[in-house]
Amino acid sequence: SDPRLAHIKESIRTIPGFPKAGILFRDVTTLLLDHKAFKDTTDIFVERYKDMKIDVVVGIEARGFIFGPPIALAIGAKFVPQRKPKKLPGPVVGEEYELEYGTDRIEMHVGAVQPGERCLIVDDLIATGGTLAAGIRLLERVGAEVVECACLIELSDLKGREKLKGKPLFILVDFE
Ligand code: PRP
Ligand code: HPA
Repeated sequence: SDPRLAHIKESIRTIPGFPKAGILFRDVTTLLLDHKAFKDTTDIFVERYKDMKIDVVVGIEARGFIFGPPIALAIGAKFVPQRKPKKLPGPVVGEEYELEYGTDRIEMHVGAVQPGERCLIVDDLIATGGTLAAGIRLLERVGAEVVECACLIELSDLKGREKLKGKPLFILVDFE
């Protein structure tokens, strides 16, 4: 496999007990402090997507806003944010998704993504898959094509991949 991946994995800090007891929180802010790890991460995604005719890189709040834009710039795509409720100022389309307790929602500006556009969704991490699944539904509702989802990290024990209804998921690092 890619020799850059071991160093990328080592650059991610694990904080036990955040945000609550029992969780091993995978913290990508330490990857951002390591120029080689951050550059290699961006490069691997760019190598994969540069010739896939991606029109739009869609970043999911908040950490999809860190990794999505450098990919969009390098592959010549536009960048569109999917945000938590009531953050975007213009007219929005929204999708609800299930949390352990209750629901959450993400929103996108109307018209930011056009019917038929080929989209790549970027986030830092897939856990239960609820967030990415909602991001896919939102894009499909406006008639866009979701080509693939890309995350740095998969928490594979949580089987979030199964929520993506067969959409390809590309990841760099697996934490079981
Ligand atoms: C985290 C992570 C993903 C999502 C993954 O974001 O960055 O967006 O959870 O979880 P899921 O696969 O179970 O849906 P968080 O909700 O903590 O939001 P934030 O980045 O705005 O802090
Ligand atoms: N790290 C970052 N975000 C997360 C995690 C994690 O371990 N689990 C669920 N969302």
